[in-house]
Amino acid sequence: MVQETSRDVGPVVLLGPPGAGKGTQAKRIMERYGIPQVSTGDLLRENVAQGTELGLAAKAVMARGELVSDDLVCNMVRERLMKPDSKRGYILDGFPRTAAQAGWLDALLEHELFDNSRPTRAWPIVIRLDVDYNLLLLRITGRRSCPSCGRIYNVHFQPPRIDEVCDVTGEKLVTRNDDRLEVIQPRLKAYQEQTRPVADYYQRTGRLISVNGDLPVDAVTEQIFRILEDHHA
Ligand code: AP5
Repeated sequence: MVQETSRDVGPVVLLGPPGAGKGTQAKRIMERYGIPQVSTGDLLRENVAQGTELGLAAKAVMARGELVSDDLVCNMVRERLMKPDSKRGYILDGFPRTAAQAGWLDALLEHELFDNSRPTRAWPIVIRLDVDYNLLLLRITGRRSCPSCGRIYNVHFQPPRIDEVCDVTGEKLVTRNDDRLEVIQPRLKAYQEQTRPVADYYQRTGRLISVNGDLPVDAVTEQIFRILEDHHA
């Protein structure tokens, strides 16, 4: 894949229920446009693994499939976006997820519109991946990832060459703690109750672009790249 780094992109917001393919597509946008993937789920899991104060506060909430408090998540995102690699743009994967987070992001971006030192002064391109419920369940229960390189696989759709082993690092693949059956329903419920209104808000304000996320990974990527190219044209 040829990387396009000559221009600013986004910010790009990827919305969609658990297992929709946000992380998979964010990595492809990152490779294509050289902008970082800011995944609040990954950042929280890193904090849990490192046993930070934030990780300790988030651990039990995540294990129940509920959402971590808006304050903690927004502060974490603010810190991440201050890193210099987000200057040309960034992909928000799994954020915003509540009305309060969407309001916080709008305020942040509005502030940047008046800050000439920040080149990424634009409203986000909001892309929602729509996926059939039964496919979501297969994607979540079949997901495996590499503990060292983070590459995502799926035993049904993108299996590794050798069962349960990462193609790149040779490490044994792991299942996410919250991909257990009993946690999937609360995660889907949190999406319906707290994140759907965020998508509705972006739709009402004419900023939501829906993509057919049922299609194979390459076909979804193609739709997203087209949107990002059209947005720039
Ligand atoms: P997070 O990590 O964000 O999880 P999620 O939103 O539930 O999304 P997933 O990571 O499950 O799915 P995905 O859409 O990225 O799909 P993926 O590409 O992996 O959040 C985890 C927790 O952290 C939350 O429950 C909450 O507690 C907390 N949290 C995070 N953000 C927060 C926030 N903003 N506020 C408060 N709390 C927050 O794909 C899934 C599988 O399908 C993979 O196996 C993949 O290989 C496969 N696949 C992907 N695309 C396709 C395709 N097109 N065809 C076939 N298979 C596919």
